[in-house]
This record gives sequence, structure tokens and C-alpha cells, in this order.
Amino acid sequence: MQKLVIDGEKRLSGEIEVQGAKNSALPLLAASLLCKGETVLIGCPKLSDVYASCRILGCLGCECKAQGNTIIIKAEAPCGCCVPDELMREMRSSIVFLGAVLGRTGECKLSFPGGCQLGPRPIDLHLSALRQMGAVITERHGMLRCTCPGGLKGAELVLSFPSVGATENIILAAALATGQTVIRNAAREPEIVDLANFLNLCGAEISGAGSDTIIIEGVRELNGCEYKVMPDRIVVSTLMAAAAITGGEVSLKGARAEDVGAVIPVFEQMGCGIYSYSDRLFVTRSKKLRSVETVRTMPYPGFPTDAQPMTMAALSLANGTSIVIENIFENRFRHVDELARMGADIKTSGRAAVIDGVSRLYGAKVHAPDLRGGAALVVAALAAEGRTELFDVKYIDRGYEEIEKQLSQLGASIIRVSE
Ligand code: UD1
Repeated sequence: MQKLVIDGEKRLSGEIEVQGAKNSALPLLAASLLCKGETVLIGCPKLSDVYASCRILGCLGCECKAQGNTIIIKAEAPCGCCVPDELMREMRSSIVFLGAVLGRTGECKLSFPGGCQLGPRPIDLHLSALRQMGAVITERHGMLRCTCPGGLKGAELVLSFPSVGATENIILAAALATGQTVIRNAAREPEIVDLANFLNLCGAEISGAGSDTIIIEGVRELNGCEYKVMPDRIVVSTLMAAAAITGGEVSLKGARAEDVGAVIPVFEQMGCGIYSYSDRLFVTRSKKLRSVETVRTMPYPGFPTDAQPMTMAALSLANGTSIVIENIFENRFRHVDELARMGADIKTSGRAAVIDGVSRLYGAKVHAPDLRGGAALVVAALAAEGRTELFDVKYIDRGYEEIEKQLSQLGASIIRVSE
């Protein structure tokens, strides 16, 4: 078992290159299945979910080779349509393979992804859309079997909620379908734009990504290309929170202001200075940390749910009371009890959390409850008095490429210890 040992009260400063986005790399890897020839994805983060996606591609008959942060996929003739149960369990987001496998082979067998630490993660919107495109889907004993007897056909789809995963699955299924697919109330997240940009470079005809209406004209064939994964906007938000809570001064190379458009004003209200350059964001906090008015998580372009826990960690040391409303996932305050062990004063009721800023946080033994909740504890520990021992690092490792190296580079005292 591994833990992170963090000695707090070190001001972060310096420059770091932001890792590639996990939430973009995974759909891009799934998309490579649709492409003949070779796809080269540059800037893939070295994370277990990325390697799990490579193993899925292997099971589907593709060649997949990782060379550092570059992954080379050859999907000339995929010969499988089954995603093994253990890989579905390992990574809930493997559901994004459904649209790609169906699009390329016309059938797909996988297990139902089930719930996760954030609460139930239904896929009704994914399935309903694929059915409208002609897929016949049966659900039995936790297994999904999908076929499309007449091939996938374009359809006019309206999502009742702008689900990121459902939008990605529809794009993947529609890219090689017959005719035009229109997605209304589509998710507008930057990762959707990244997916559409990649597919368009491969020969797809997708327009409107980034808006709430996406139009996909099905094409006969896609051919692999070389593509650089977008920077990870949640890692950017995490490093912003780390700079804010330690009164630091960090340069985030590769970070794009437009990806964190709803996060920047919240940190500015907290007393940070955030300066955007063409190739980086510069974040500094020299004034006292201040509370903010209500932060509400919303689909993009609203404040991202994934940035909520670390923002809350920073607010726990701010002067005054802040409110956070979590609108996306029902079980996303699991870091609150652990932050309380460090001295934070946070009360939750349903979807709301009230954070009364305290003057000090104290190092403690804490457990990462999930990926972003774990990152929130790291952020808190960076500013806490004394030593924090953070267990269940495996959750944090799902989204951050060697978090201890990234933060050490900025002057934090953080090491990984194997027990
Ligand atoms: C993606 C991100 C995740 C992020 C989330 C919201 C990846 C790999 N993960 O997850 O980090 O927190 O977007 O920005 O990109 N829902 C349904 N039915 C469905 C699909 C979703 O009810 O068929 C609900 C979910 O339960 C949840 C909400 O919609 O409450 C948002 O889910 P969705 O946008 O689909 O998130 P993911 O794609 O799972």
C-alpha cells in the first residue's frame, strides 16, 4: 500500500507543464478504433485508465503501443467486439467504447458499468440514443449485448441532460453511420471539441462541437492521424487551488484560459491574480484568501464538478463563509469528513455545503475517498501545519500523473512511501 507524506506550509512557486487530459485521452483512444491505419496520440497522461483503454483496444484486435506519453494504435482490422468484464469494472468510463465498437464492427458486448464512488452512474441516455440510431440492445444479468441489424443510421437526438459520456458515445457511433445525426442539448465540454477535432482530422464531418447542437454527417471511412491531447483543465484547476491555498506563484505551461473560464473568476474572488498568455496561465495569490459567494457546479461552460473538491479545500482556509452547491453528482462531498479531520469547518445538507473559513488547517492521517476528493486533501495538506499522511493514493493516481513529482517541482514537500 502506498501513501503520500506531505509536510505543509510550503509556498508553491515555479513552472510546470500541464499533463494531457485524461477525460480527453480516453474517448480519443476509443475513437482510434474507428480509424484505419495508424493513429498517434501525443501527450497521453501516464495513468492506469489510459493503459486500461489500451488493453481494451488489444482485446478488440488492435495493436497498441505506449512510448512515454505517446500512444500508437493500429486498428487496421479489429476482430473483436467484447470488452472484458474486468476492464469494464476497472474503469467506468470504458462505456465510451460502446459507441466506437458498435460504429466499427456493428456489434458490441460489454458488462453494465454500474455505480462508482460518486453515486449511481446511469447510462440510460447513451442507450436510448443508440437505440434511436438503430441499435438493438438487450440487458441481461448485468451484460449489454448490442447489434445493429440494418447498420447504424443517423438520427435526430435530444438529450434530456447534456451528458458528456452520452454525447461522446453518440459522436463515436455516428461518425461512420449512414446519414446525418443531430445531437440537441449536447454537452459542450472542451473534451467534446477535442474528440470532434481529432475525428475531423481523420476524415469525419462533425460540426458544432462546443455548442449545444452537434451535427455529424456519417462518412464511409476514417483514417488515423497524429494528434495532441488537450491539456487537462482539472489538473489546471487543482494547481490553481494549490497556488491559492499556499499563497504561491505558479506558471502553468500549456493551460488554456478558455477551458477554465468559470473557475478563474472564483479564484479571483478568493484573492488570486490570474494572468493568461498564449501558451500558459500564471496564477498568484499575495492578498489574504477570501471567501466567495455561492459556487454552483454546472455542465460546461459552468463551474466543473470535478474542480469542486479542491476549490472547497482552498475555501476552508479563506476569511469568511462560502457556499458550494453540487448539481451534477449526488455523492460528491465525501472529502468533507476528511477535511474536517484536518480542522476544516464544513457543514453539508443535501447538495449544499457551507464552508466557514478557519485560520489554520492541521496535518492528519486521512484517506482519499475518490479521485478529486483525494486531490482536495492534497491541496489542504500543502497549507496545513505539520505532516499529513494521505492513504488510498490509488484514487489520486487515476487522474494525476505522479502528483508528488508535479508538486515537488513547484517546491512542495511531498513524497510517496510504500508500506
Ligand atoms: C464525465 C467525466 C467526469 C465528469 C463528468 C461531468 C470522463 C471520463 N468523465 O463523466 O470526470 O465529472 O463528465 O462533467 O470524461 N447521467 C444520467 N444518465 C446518463 C448519463 C449521465 O442520468 O445516461 C447523469 C449522471 O448520473 C450525472 C450527470 O448525468 O449525474 C453527468 O454525467 P455525465 O455528463 O454523463 O458524466 P460522465 O460522462 O460520466
